[in-house]
Amino acid sequence: MRDHQLSILVICLGNICRSPTAEAVLRAKLDAAGLAGQVVVDSAGTGDWHIGHPPDVRSQRHAAQRGYDLSALRARRVAEEDFRQFDLILAMDEDNLADLQRLAPDQGARAELRLFAHVEVPDPYQGGPAAFERVIDLVEAASDVWVENLARRLGTS
Ligand code: 4NP
Repeated sequence: MRDHQLSILVICLGNICRSPTAEAVLRAKLDAAGLAGQVVVDSAGTGDWHIGHPPDVRSQRHAAQRGYDLSALRARRVAEEDFRQFDLILAMDEDNLADLQRLAPDQGARAELRLFAHVEVPDPYQGGPAAFERVIDLVEAASDVWVENLARRLGTS
């Protein structure tokens, strides 16, 4: 994280659908804005069921249709150290946010905890194709807003 000026961790429940999608989309949009070298983007889950797994094949397919490659990502669980290392930890829904507030260490946490989008990004896991499209629609829109916000924080706009 030393070489970067800002670090962002995106969080959902399983780290196989919403947050890996957000990691890839936000990274691509930062890259397009010329900010990739200044911002670290990572993702994790509050749950531990899928640790080490690649993103859900449905998320991979819907993302690939819009030009985002999720295939190299692997799920991990959020750790206490994340609250000390990251500047921003962004949750996909209110349950994720409440879990993060509970998991934050008493000592040394410095991350700002917020929702990723101005609305909750609903869990698509039990849903059909429309649920996965809704995730990527919300994630793309929120990522555009974050790129502007981060550019302001970096003093580049
Ligand atoms: P995500 O979706 O939180 O967007 O990764 C889920 C993936 C798996 C489960 C729940 C949500 N699950 O219960 O296994």
